Amino acid sequence: MFPVREVYSSEAESLEQLGTKPKFWFTDENGQRMLFKADQRGTGEDWAEKIACELCGLLGLPHVYYELAIDRDKGNPGVVCPTCSPPPMSLVLGNQLLLAHDAQYPTAARCRYKVQEHTIKAVVDVIKAIQPPPPEWLNEMPNGIVSAVDIFAGYIMVDAWIGNQDRHHENWAALRVGNTLQLAPTFDHGAAMARQITDQERQQRLATRDPGYGIPRFVRSARSAFYRDPEAKKSMTTIEAWRAFSLYAPDASMIWLGRLRMIDDDGARKILEEVPLNRLSGIGRDFTHRLLIENRKRILNGDEK
Ligand SMILES: Nc1ncnc2c1ncn2[C@@H]1O[C@H](COP(=O)(O)OP(=O)(O)OP(=O)(O)O)[C@@H](O)[C@H]1O
Ligand SMILES: [Mg+2]
Repeated sequence: MFPVREVYSSEAESLEQLGTKPKFWFTDENGQRMLFKADQRGTGEDWAEKIACELCGLLGLPHVYYELAIDRDKGNPGVVCPTCSPPPMSLVLGNQLLLAHDAQYPTAARCRYKVQEHTIKAVVDVIKAIQPPPPEWLNEMPNGIVSAVDIFAGYIMVDAWIGNQDRHHENWAALRVGNTLQLAPTFDHGAAMARQITDQERQQRLATRDPGYGIPRFVRSARSAFYRDPEAKKSMTTIEAWRAFSLYAPDASMIWLGRLRMIDDDGARKILEEVPLNRLSGIGRDFTHRLLIENRKRILNGDEK
């Protein structure tokens, strides 16, 4: 089982204002600055974040490392992770990077979702201009992945695998030191794997004979936070975003596909079984496993639009 770290909100040094969920920063016993993100509403952000983190690890993506945690003072489950931008670094979020390229880019906090200007092309243009993450993040990276765009292609592929609908412009970033900008490791995958649906719905979707209600159809409804162009009415599906992004990094995309192909379905299952049952039920494991199998197939088959 994954260990569950005990944290104490009474030791909070500051609250994180960005994002929608309650979060606080504290310094752990090793002097490391840590962020605790609570899953106050019990909607599964904790296990989704942990599983996504482990899957990023299997792929070799630079990723923030999350552990399951519990706030002993308030009883809230959640996850904990070290900062990826210790001083003198600072984090520059995607919307700020986009604004620097386009003075009209909408950055107000209320504009986090449904931002039609958040196009694949705009994001590629920004990421082309920044460096890959610092070397300590690159230990597991496959050979042949060179640029920040190559690495970001992997972020978009993992989003398609886990059905992450939340890669909005505050959920990717750069690390700044002085005048240098480097891609930040991938973070915040807690809104993936349909983690908010009930076990009853999971059970019904697993058992149904209705192709319109089954998991192969269900996974197709995952929408990304990317738009094809600023006039597009709907955002792209997670698979469409992956296909569109991979055109900007064709060689790297083949390499990421090779990594995904190497991870068999049992690899994902083993990770699911490491999550304590009081966080993710048996039905939750079965459903999430099927979701990952279906999405992996869709990505590797490559025949879906
Ligand atoms: N490991 C980290 N290192 C540095 N800053 C971080 C880290 N994790 C999160 N942050 C900061 O905290 C903000 C909120 O964190 P995060 O996106 O994980 O939470 P959230 O509430 O789930 O967000 P959302 O509302 O997008 O779902 C991030 O946008 C970032 O600015
Ligand atoms: Mg976020």
